[in-house]
Amino acid sequence: MARKKIIAGNWKMNMTPSEAVELINTLKPLVKTEDADVVFCVPAIDIIPALEAVKGTNIEIGAENMYYEEKGAYTGEISPAMLTDVGVKYVIIGHSERREYFAETDETVNKKVLKAFEHGITPIVCCGETLTQREQGVTMDFIRQQVKIAFLGVTADQAKTAVIAYEPIWAIGTGKTATTEQAQEVCGGIRRCIAEIYDEATAEAIRIQYGGSVNAKTAPELFVQPDIDGGLVGGAALKPDFGQIVNWK
Ligand code: 13P
Repeated sequence: MARKKIIAGNWKMNMTPSEAVELINTLKPLVKTEDADVVFCVPAIDIIPALEAVKGTNIEIGAENMYYEEKGAYTGEISPAMLTDVGVKYVIIGHSERREYFAETDETVNKKVLKAFEHGITPIVCCGETLTQREQGVTMDFIRQQVKIAFLGVTADQAKTAVIAYEPIWAIGTGKTATTEQAQEVCGGIRRCIAEIYDEATAEAIRIQYGGSVNAKTAPELFVQPDIDGGLVGGAALKPDFGQIVNWK
């Protein structure tokens, strides 16, 4: 069966709650589609007003992060139960910005992925190489390591429902999109890695997104690739362009 595309916006640290509602009201009519799952991953404080604003639409609300403990003395963190209690279905885990600025490691990513599954939240697991790693020719080795550690202890049935976002760090927010060949090559490599860890059925089911300067112009050529099942979109998700990205066909 063909995999349904999943096109997600990562709002990062943008939009106050009132701006979020305004943006959702602008985007609502533009992102209508039956062909793809549409997810807006928003800052924690925007989640509740965003959920209210998307009622009756095809938009799902996701979080940009969560902690791997159930509750307790972890000042500033958001627990998985806090997300599910209000109806959050997706959470971005291990974005390169969290790895770079907030000391996330492959090990914390793995703990968060396991915890998300425990609570029935679909993780969007991020991976991606630096420009140096690409130039050194170790891209796939690095990404395979990130993916293998992220999925330690995850069952095949859980992995089938997961989303992996391949985001080359050098392409994030730089206006420099990976070429379709580069993006397809790595997304295909990730799918083979999943087949090695699990089996062909799991590799066929898991959805793999590309992220990094996706825009209305580049989306169609990326999304038509056999192993690219949609996108994780930063800057362009905050603009009406996101409607064109979602309706890329
Ligand atoms: P840009 O689309 O702004 O490059 O951001 C990509 C990204 O990091 C999405 O998670």
